[in-house]
Amino acid sequence: EKRTPVKELLRSTAFGTQVHVKGWVQTKRESKNVAFIALNDGSVVHHLQIVAEVEKFPEDVLKNITTGACIAVTGMLTESQGQGQKVEVQATAIEIYGTADAEKYPLQPKRHSLEFLREIAHLRPRTRTFGAVLRIRHAMAFAIHKYFNDRGFFYLHTPIITGSDAEGAGEMFRVTTLDPIDPPLNEFGTIDYKQDFFGKETNLTVSGQLEGELGAMALSLVYTFGPTFRAENSNTARHLAEFWMIEPEMAFYDLEDNMNLAEDFLKYLVQYALDHCIDDLEFLDNRQKEEEKNKKQEERSPMGLVEKLRFVVDNNFERLTYTEAVDILMKSKPAQKGQFVYPVSWGTDLQSEHERYLVEKHFKKPVILTNYPRQIKAFYMKQDEDGKTVRAMDVLFPGIGEIIGGSQREENYEKLYSRIQELKIHEESLWWYLETRKYGTAPHSGFGLGFERLILFITGMANIRDVIPFPRTPQNAEF
Ligand code: 4AD
Ligand code: MG
Repeated sequence: EKRTPVKELLRSTAFGTQVHVKGWVQTKRESKNVAFIALNDGSVVHHLQIVAEVEKFPEDVLKNITTGACIAVTGMLTESQGQGQKVEVQATAIEIYGTADAEKYPLQPKRHSLEFLREIAHLRPRTRTFGAVLRIRHAMAFAIHKYFNDRGFFYLHTPIITGSDAEGAGEMFRVTTLDPIDPPLNEFGTIDYKQDFFGKETNLTVSGQLEGELGAMALSLVYTFGPTFRAENSNTARHLAEFWMIEPEMAFYDLEDNMNLAEDFLKYLVQYALDHCIDDLEFLDNRQKEEEKNKKQEERSPMGLVEKLRFVVDNNFERLTYTEAVDILMKSKPAQKGQFVYPVSWGTDLQSEHERYLVEKHFKKPVILTNYPRQIKAFYMKQDEDGKTVRAMDVLFPGIGEIIGGSQREENYEKLYSRIQELKIHEESLWWYLETRKYGTAPHSGFGLGFERLILFITGMANIRDVIPFPRTPQNAEF
């Protein structure tokens, strides 16, 4: 028989009809005559109540219905008399697909810590919190494709294995086919990594941008959406070794057009979540409000999750230059310690404490910083006339810091080439990139949105490990 998802049954008013529902048991409450089973199949954050009259079922069936077991229920959809739900299913038949030893099942019917759940990544999608996060993650991926498709962008598939270092930062995972026992040696007698990939040096991509630029120089508007890899050993709540990135690249866009697109895009995604994921958002909002109660007054966040999302949609992002931001930071006294851990002066890269100060304390809204010093930004950014800054932009969000990084690109062959020389970047691996500046070059811009940072913001979760099904961090690469 055809099963109906719990999500549909909870909205149904077809009382008196027979239904089939399948899922995992969250809890069971049993009195003398009747058992109440909370069942979920992951389609929605709320569970469906199954009512089973004890005398209608063999004892061992009810005994085996424990938290974590998987069952199939046939029964009648009825209007519920109980509090907290509108519908329930009066069971007429129950089949057990898989039992779960109540003593050993790691997910007990109580709230577990997120740290503990990280250790059981194979079961945590069954919790309501992770179910909500994963459904929102799906909705955001879909909305991203919809946004670009509706605006004439083409989805460009860029390579995962590549010979180039798109950010020039050297944070790459090597890809090798070399025999570890008997590797080929170079003239110095050490391993010849130049032969990595059947004779070429290769790594996992840090960004699809450079290939995205090639796409924009032919299709005008493109975007990538794929996994990217950074071999940085940064153990923070905002960094992963494997994360997903969305990188639109637009011919004929200047920095201003780029900022306008980034702001419109982010607002669209937040609004999409409010329109399509409100049950999950409200569940997470309530969960976080409960947790806030355990915090000291001054550490509590001034807005709830849904309120925070609405605020982003309704307010313009603050736009200012890096130089203006540094002025503000140098004059400011962060309330807590009276100074920043990392001192600021013109030319230093901003740390997340500075970004968050600007967003959370000073402007109290999302901020776009532009025109950063050239020495702290990547080689491909368009150089400003002053010779000191480049047309970079970073979008900074509350609770997150940098959510987007982007720029107008240097389209002038000579300027790009001399910057590559200056930075001693291996130019042979970029010959194809340089050729786009030789043949029909054009002004163009683009940016990268970190998908997990977006999901962090939308879900209000605190740690990036909790918004991706299988986090890859220096500590965690199991599963
Ligand atoms: O600022 P990034 O390094 O920029 C680029 O990769 C450019 N090629 C983008 C472009 O212009 N097409 O990274 C872009 C975004 C960051 O703003 C951040 O949201 C995210 O990617 N990001 C990470 N997210 C999780 N873990 C990490 N280790 C990340 N590194 C960057
Ligand atoms: Mg960046």
